[in-house]
Amino acid sequence: MTEGNSTAAEQVALDVSGVDELIDRFAALSETHGAEGVTRLGYTPLEREAHQVFATFMSHLGLSVHSDAAGNTIAELPGDGRPDGIGTGSHLDSVPHGGRFDGIVGVVAAMLCAQTLAADDYHPRHPLRFVAFANEEGARFGQACNGSRLAAGTTDAEALGELRDRDGISVLEAMRSVGLDPDRLDEARWRREDWDSFIEMHIEQGSVLADGADDIGLVDTISGSTRLRLTVHGVASHSGGTPMLARHDALVSASAIVLAANDLALDAEHFGTRITIGRIIASPNSMTTIPGEVTLDVDIRDVDTDRQRQTALTLIARAKETAALHDTSLDAHLIADTAPTLLSRRIIELASRETDRLGMVHRVLASGASHDTQQISRVCETGMLFVPSLHHGVSHSPDEFSRAEDIARGVQALTGLLTALDMADEQPAS
Ligand code: GLV
Ligand code: MN
Ligand code: MN
Repeated sequence: MTEGNSTAAEQVALDVSGVDELIDRFAALSETHGAEGVTRLGYTPLEREAHQVFATFMSHLGLSVHSDAAGNTIAELPGDGRPDGIGTGSHLDSVPHGGRFDGIVGVVAAMLCAQTLAADDYHPRHPLRFVAFANEEGARFGQACNGSRLAAGTTDAEALGELRDRDGISVLEAMRSVGLDPDRLDEARWRREDWDSFIEMHIEQGSVLADGADDIGLVDTISGSTRLRLTVHGVASHSGGTPMLARHDALVSASAIVLAANDLALDAEHFGTRITIGRIIASPNSMTTIPGEVTLDVDIRDVDTDRQRQTALTLIARAKETAALHDTSLDAHLIADTAPTLLSRRIIELASRETDRLGMVHRVLASGASHDTQQISRVCETGMLFVPSLHHGVSHSPDEFSRAEDIARGVQALTGLLTALDMADEQPAS
């Protein structure tokens, strides 16, 4: 670090009002207009508007900005001729009725970091790239990290044609509807030789940091996720005419499956496994008809890659048994599967030195949530900084909250880390 870089990093801590202003600006871009949290789903006009806010801000700083066919927006501060960039950023979409911070904090951090470096007339050795990824949340199409998957080459147009939202719109159709061109997705692919490293700042979405009164988290592992759709087949029939013992009620059966899934995650062998059934569709969903079919969308998260996949198989077997006990049948379909990801030790060590230098108390921890960084780790060395989540870590909810001063501290650490990476001579052995 040079004297000048330290100055850049330290100025950011004061910029609490800059944090609030940008968080408010993005929060206003919501289907809900401020009430009931933020709803800004991937590949919608509102998400594109948020990307435009990011692009305009970065252009005003004098950075070159482009949006790719996947909908990712990238702003670049040129380096001294080296090709391999150092990146930072996160996503701008939300879940339905989500919070103001998930993803946004990492993009706001990138904006404030770029602002500080531009104001300080910082001339990087490596190109510094500030990234807003598109459609990170799995809430709309079932699979998370769409924009970063396309950047990393872990999905393609054919696979995206299969994924549909609850209205039957495929990812490709949604992309076209907001002016993106899925026929050019190959152009959104990041090449390894163009990247040195990537750092994402994000809210913790848990309460480890706040409980420990830590300033900042350094992530060593990101949980994997296996997503299943279980469909329970019963027989729809008249709610008055059909005797209780003659029923094949798909919702009664599905309810027992939900409880069995919860029991599975709570048994001693699954300490740390998280199973959620967050979406249920019963049909015909009529008060006077016994449910004939129910779909359950299951999300299994784990930091243990083998256990994650074994849990999915065990759950399918138990769900089949449970369905049969209730005179129904079941089929299971894999929606998405992502392995847990280990982040770079070298970056954790650099970040730990930077946070010590800045007088921040840090903790190394795992992430229960998925992040774009998981995909980008296929391209280059990656790291993540977590800022504390308050309100017991609640997230994907309007109650999600992080303090502006904690976010500003995160921006300070991020700026320090990016400049430290920029000055680091040694490339990692990969
Ligand atoms: C992304 O927010 C996830 O679902 O983990
Ligand atoms: Mn997120
Ligand atoms: Mn999220």
